[in-house]
Amino acid sequence: MGWLEKLLFVCFLIFGAAIDGSQGDAMVTGTVFCDQCKDGQRSLFDYPVYGVKIKVVCTDSNGQVTMSREETTNWFGNYAVKFDGAPDLSGCYAQVSSTGQDSQSGCTAAAGPAQQLRLMFRMFDMEMYVANSLLAQPSQPMSNCPRSYNPAPAPVTPANPPPVYAPVTPAPVTPTNPSPPAFGPPLPHLPPLPPLPPMPPVPFLEATACSHDNWTTPEYKCYWRAVNPDTKVATIFGPFAARRYGTDMTLWQGLQGRGDSYRTLLRESITSFLNSYNSLQFPYHTIGVIQHTNWALMGSPRSVLLTALRFKRANSGYGNISCRFTPCKD
Ligand SMILES: *[C@@H]1O[C@H](CO)[C@@H](O)[C@H](O)[C@H]1NC(C)=O
Ligand SMILES: *[C@@H]1O[C@H](CO)[C@@H](O)[C@H](O)[C@H]1NC(C)=O
Repeated sequence: MGWLEKLLFVCFLIFGAAIDGSQGDAMVTGTVFCDQCKDGQRSLFDYPVYGVKIKVVCTDSNGQVTMSREETTNWFGNYAVKFDGAPDLSGCYAQVSSTGQDSQSGCTAAAGPAQQLRLMFRMFDMEMYVANSLLAQPSQPMSNCPRSYNPAPAPVTPANPPPVYAPVTPAPVTPTNPSPPAFGPPLPHLPPLPPLPPMPPVPFLEATACSHDNWTTPEYKCYWRAVNPDTKVATIFGPFAARRYGTDMTLWQGLQGRGDSYRTLLRESITSFLNSYNSLQFPYHTIGVIQHTNWALMGSPRSVLLTALRFKRANSGYGNISCRFTPCKD
């Protein structure tokens, strides 16, 4: 491409991005868990539950409902509720409204508190909100629940803060990785990025690097641990990704991307993100994956392509490291 074509191409991209961002919307996402032990909190045995109706409700200062929208959780226990025109939802909350379609799960009773929506970012006429996990309960607790859970002994320390189930907020992960391959020098300032999901309890110590094909193979679904395939790209990668790819796009859809360099970047970034959570020896740590993706999105089309290729090489293990997935049980 000559410089004029390049310039026109860049103008076209900027113009395109401006149009994309102009119809504002707000997206609310979260997950519903089946509280198998009926202990009122997220624990080891709880799993995301399908077919639960949830409601996002907004009220005015008199407690009158001003806005309310219902949605059903999908196979991964996730819901996503979209509001056009990007209204302020910071005073709204999400709650389980009724269950029932999923009779096999037996998790049919609404339980646990409604959760206030938290704004993750507002930028380019877009807003992304998340709610902490919601709970639904079975009629009877699972038989082999740890006993000590149920009648909670009175705490000795006074004035405890209420328990926080905190699925999304905890401290950023900084695994001790070997230093990542060098990227180009000019790195602009990044906007505030959403907090990362917590590291899964046991990341692998051995080196493993898997391709996007490996991550979308159904037999390997148990390796999706910190995030699930329906997690929104925007809640992981932040506002620049939301502007480029929309607030609707899920990690799973992003992994299918091909064709242009922006889709390739997203596919390889998500793959590197998943690899970084899965192995402490992956050459990029999780925060680095997010940062390099954002720098690329803020940069030229060429930086997008280069970053995509660097991630792709890391995801292929540089021809040395293989993917250590073994098919999941069940
Ligand atoms: C991972 O995917 C690559 C191709 O992308 C394939 O060659 C390899 O066998 C896969 N590994 C596993 C463990 O499935
Ligand atoms: C693969 O590993 C070997 C040694 O284990 C090393 O000599 C070689 O340079 C590596 N190749 C690449 C592409 O990193």
